[in-house]
Amino acid sequence: MNLILMGLPGAGKGTQADKINETYHIPHISTGDMFRLAIKEGTELGQKAKEYMDQGALVPDDVTTGIVKERLGKEDCKDGFLLDGFPRTVAQAESLQTLLEEMGESIDYVLHVEVPEDDLVERLAGRRICPTCGATYHVTHNPPQKEGICDNDGTELIQREDDQAETVKNRLSVNLEQMKPLLNFYHHKGCLVKIDGDQEIDQVFKDIQSAIKS
Ligand code: AP5
Ligand code: ZN
Repeated sequence: MNLILMGLPGAGKGTQADKINETYHIPHISTGDMFRLAIKEGTELGQKAKEYMDQGALVPDDVTTGIVKERLGKEDCKDGFLLDGFPRTVAQAESLQTLLEEMGESIDYVLHVEVPEDDLVERLAGRRICPTCGATYHVTHNPPQKEGICDNDGTELIQREDDQAETVKNRLSVNLEQMKPLLNFYHHKGCLVKIDGDQEIDQVFKDIQSAIKS
């Protein structure tokens, strides 16, 4: 099964991707995570991506498409994959389509997780992440058992750099602008499914499971 998770920043893509990955055992490919790892490792890609991410802007299409192409070529993607946060522009969607055609693959479902804009700001402001294992929490909606500490490994949780209020504003406006043409692109392909993301995390996941079974 080849899936795309689409949604504005804070819609819950990463949260649902972890659940999909646990249940369906398909690799979770998040361009945001790949860029954050590259920044942490201090690679050339990381330096380039950081310039854009710190401003809440999109990393150029050629860079982003390049890393996805490399990732999809790996052995573990042969039996399915889950793309999270890619494609984010129509140009990226077109490149992906060409690539999939070359691979003899196609997308089964594009899951568009919808959440009202006002809630997104609150979700991003309250998000905390574990710098060790990457787990995502929310101070009220999805808190760890012990305040500020990762359940998995006891690491102190931190805020993501691009979750500062000013950067969030820019991320939302950039993504809003790109979203509509992208949704049209997949609507015309007939694989777009709307998911109500304004519900409890487990209910959102149940809706995703029903959508991909149908
Ligand atoms: P990326 O890492 O993809 O960030 P994003 O799209 O802004 O999405 P987020 O990770 O912020 O949110 P999410 O939807 O995963 O929400 P989460 O599950 O964490 O990209 C970062 C940057 O990298 C971009 O700005 C760009 O610069 C660059 N980039 C990445 N991909 C690119 C591309 N294709 N092209 C160009 N540039 C690219 O949830 C958010 C919070 O809400 C959490 O605290 C969570 O616990 C909570 N929550 C989740 N679900 C619920 C719920 N149902 N109810 C209540 N709270 C919930
Ligand atoms: Zn952790």
